Amino acid sequence: MATPDDNPQAEILAVVGARPNMVKMAPLLHALADGEVGRVRLVHTGQHYDRSLSGGFIELLGMPEPDANLEVGSGTHAEQTAAVLIGIEKEIADNEPDLLVVSGDVNSTMAAAIAAAKAGVPVCHLESGLRSGDWTMPEEINRVVTDRISDLLLCTSPDAVENLTAEGISGNGVALVGNTMIDSLVRILAEVDRTSVLRERDLASREFGLVTLHRPALVDDPAQLTAAIDALKGLAEQMPVVFPVHPRTASRLEAAGVDASDALRILEPMDYPDFIALEAEARVVVTDSGGVQEETSAVGTPCLTYRTTTERPITCELGTNELVGTDPAALSAAIERVLTEEVPGEAPGIPLWDGAAGPRAADAIGTFLGQRNSV
Ligand code: UD1
Ligand code: UDP
Repeated sequence: MATPDDNPQAEILAVVGARPNMVKMAPLLHALADGEVGRVRLVHTGQHYDRSLSGGFIELLGMPEPDANLEVGSGTHAEQTAAVLIGIEKEIADNEPDLLVVSGDVNSTMAAAIAAAKAGVPVCHLESGLRSGDWTMPEEINRVVTDRISDLLLCTSPDAVENLTAEGISGNGVALVGNTMIDSLVRILAEVDRTSVLRERDLASREFGLVTLHRPALVDDPAQLTAAIDALKGLAEQMPVVFPVHPRTASRLEAAGVDASDALRILEPMDYPDFIALEAEARVVVTDSGGVQEETSAVGTPCLTYRTTTERPITCELGTNELVGTDPAALSAAIERVLTEEVPGEAPGIPLWDGAAGPRAADAIGTFLGQRNSV
């Protein structure tokens, strides 16, 4: 790999914006912290701004405080994307980075990548190559656009590398480094007192369900949202169901006049350590999140994904994830079946989801910068 002598003054601009970005980026920042590969400037776009979705993650993941916050906030896709484009373009003009690093698939990811590519700054995409094939998902557009203009594409799994190859993207710029989200999980789960997290909430190990739902295709449709909540009430008749509610979902539940608090334990978004502790201790998780499919596979907890597609098929093939579709009757049936089955309870072991993806990603960046320097 490259040494500081190969590339003494590399400036790396790392950009985060939303909750899952922090979980994916933190291990890379830790691995780059010694400055050997380059000096990192961290910019938060401000796409997420509530402490429970933003500052809390930065603090609890041990990330450095961002050097700047663009405070783009909420808005339409165009408003959010445009504000990040303008802000990152200025960041690039002011700081002249050698590389921009983005993670995941949110609007901030794509907008920052476009700003860098247009300014001639190479782009590194952490969690490259995932594809759901569903173009109605804003994230799918964000993933494909980001990958098309990226120079260093860091993948979590072999299927992601294959997706890129099928799109004509291959060669030295593509590297299979593993899953940095699992680095965060391994690191923080080792520090959490799981017994206390359960006791504080009056929960018993493997005797509760955990739910997250926030995809627009589901929660922005009042009929779909209501039907999903009804299916979850069926689970709640058998065991406590903990549902930390994303703000998008909270406002949609209110607008649809759905009050689920009589049956489900409705909470604010949870702090990351507490949430992953519950993931590791739940009897079953029901979700439409991307990251939660991966984390449950890593901790060996059954996961029912309430969607028709997944960009993370390896979690179904080698992990504990099952794609149940969006028919509430199918969800109820899947819940009933899972409750009769043994909980795997230990990580099935997806290759390179081992807690050491951050250092591998940092090495790939060092090699990339070294190669550019020697051209
Ligand atoms: C975004 C990402 C999604 C990701 C999710 C992670 C896009 C297109 N979507 O969805 O891929 O899975 O983040 O959680 O980038 N809000 C608050 N406080 C905040 C942030 C948002 O209350 O700190 C509310 C606002 O009402 C806002 C709504 O949540 O309109 C949606 O926020 P937004 O960032 O647009 O998208 P998410 O649904 O969070
Ligand atoms: N998460 C959390 N608290 C919660 C819900 C989720 O800490 O109440 C974490 C979860 O462990 C994972 C990340 O948030 O690391 C997933 O983010 P989200 O589901 O919002 O986004 P997606 O992965 O779908 O893009």
